[in-house]
Amino acid sequence: MLARALSLAALLASTSLAGPAFAQGAPAAAVPLPAGQGKELVEGVCTACHQVREIQRSMGYSKEGWKELAATMIDLSKTPDQREEIISYLATHFPEGKNPRPAKQVDGDQQIAFKQWTMPSLGQRSRDPVQGKDGKIWYVGQFGNVIGWINPDTNEIREYPLPSGSYPHNVTLDKDGNAWWTGNKNGTIGKFDPKTEKNTVYKMPDPKVKDPHTAEFDQKGILWFSAQHSQHVGRLDPATGDIKVWPLQTPKAQPYSVKIDSKGNVWVSCNGAPCLIKIDPVTFEISEFSLPLAGTTVRRIDIGPDDRVWYVNSGRGRLGVYDPATGLAKEWDSPSGRTSHPYGIAVIDGIVWYNESNVRPDMLVRFDPKTEKFQSWPIPSGGIHAGIVRHMRPTKEGNLLIHQSSTNRITLVTPRPPLTR
Ligand code: HEC
Repeated sequence: MLARALSLAALLASTSLAGPAFAQGAPAAAVPLPAGQGKELVEGVCTACHQVREIQRSMGYSKEGWKELAATMIDLSKTPDQREEIISYLATHFPEGKNPRPAKQVDGDQQIAFKQWTMPSLGQRSRDPVQGKDGKIWYVGQFGNVIGWINPDTNEIREYPLPSGSYPHNVTLDKDGNAWWTGNKNGTIGKFDPKTEKNTVYKMPDPKVKDPHTAEFDQKGILWFSAQHSQHVGRLDPATGDIKVWPLQTPKAQPYSVKIDSKGNVWVSCNGAPCLIKIDPVTFEISEFSLPLAGTTVRRIDIGPDDRVWYVNSGRGRLGVYDPATGLAKEWDSPSGRTSHPYGIAVIDGIVWYNESNVRPDMLVRFDPKTEKFQSWPIPSGGIHAGIVRHMRPTKEGNLLIHQSSTNRITLVTPRPPLTR
């Protein structure tokens, strides 16, 4: 097991409190923390991976809750006095109920079960679980710079460090079981071979493409990817290692999710503008389609069985579907409303699953397009509610893999009765 628990002692010993393994270059917060005993410790210890904004906009917790949440991110057990000061400060200034952001839960007939695993590296931002043919569930820990797998039958978990500075955002599997990850911080895409436990790293051909984000294989084994802040999309041919990249014309399009339809067309969502993008896999022609509502931004998409493109309208708190045959989109308000920020999405056997990430708890939502009915559940995250789903994908049986970004948890959602494809 990889020993990568970040300790307070190690943090305080380093000259810069933003330890190199986790540094996100977090600048000083725009709004300072309230004065009080423990403020400096919190500012020092809790900004190694993110800004204090995460604390300020949290829902607020009891002392026990803060203790549990902090323990998923940093090991303070060896410095109990400082831990007490940090936890007391947090519970005093950000008590339970301070910033509730409540969800609107919708009841219904569907039963589901959650099975949850906790990943070993603390504060790792575990994400993007995906199941291989052998049943193993792969994931990456973006802040922890790790790739790993869970064996759901034995509950064994393995984690491997990635080349320094990669900060993997996404993992996807090829037909031979290699795990391909995107180096979101250093302009690379990597292939991890589980047999040799070695990485092959591919560098972007253009230094402007700094942040490979999400990648997905098409039916021919070509890896298509987005680079959100670099405003590019690209393709990597694993047979030759050749990489092609294209800039997007729409200002602030922020290409994000990538999915392939049944004909091999590549669909990309825009996280900064009301658009969807289609790439022709043969001619490389890039087409852009506008979505109707101003303020629309789309984190993730999935393709339905009829090749319609289901999307979360994150900016407007809605669920939508775009029909390429007619050029028309249809949308529904998400149960928790305008600011619920729907995020991950997966269409499984015609049923749409997604999450509402800006409410607490983070809600898992089910939508049946036939009846247009919603149902939703709070996603468990230990004894507290923290963290969100940033990507969801089906298992080979048709169950659903999700995760919780704050608490290192990967979760299997199984509808009852269970699906057996
Ligand atoms: C090793 C990295 C790391 C350190 C150190 C760290 N965190 Fe976090 N924290 C995370 C990650 C990862 C997330 C999830 C961010 C996301 O969803 O993108 C998070 C999110 C949070 C959230 C948001 C919870 C929610 O509602 O989802 C709070 C609050 C928080 N951290 C508090 C703290 C406090 C308090 C400390 C110091 C005791 C701390 N963090 C130190 C990694 C870290």
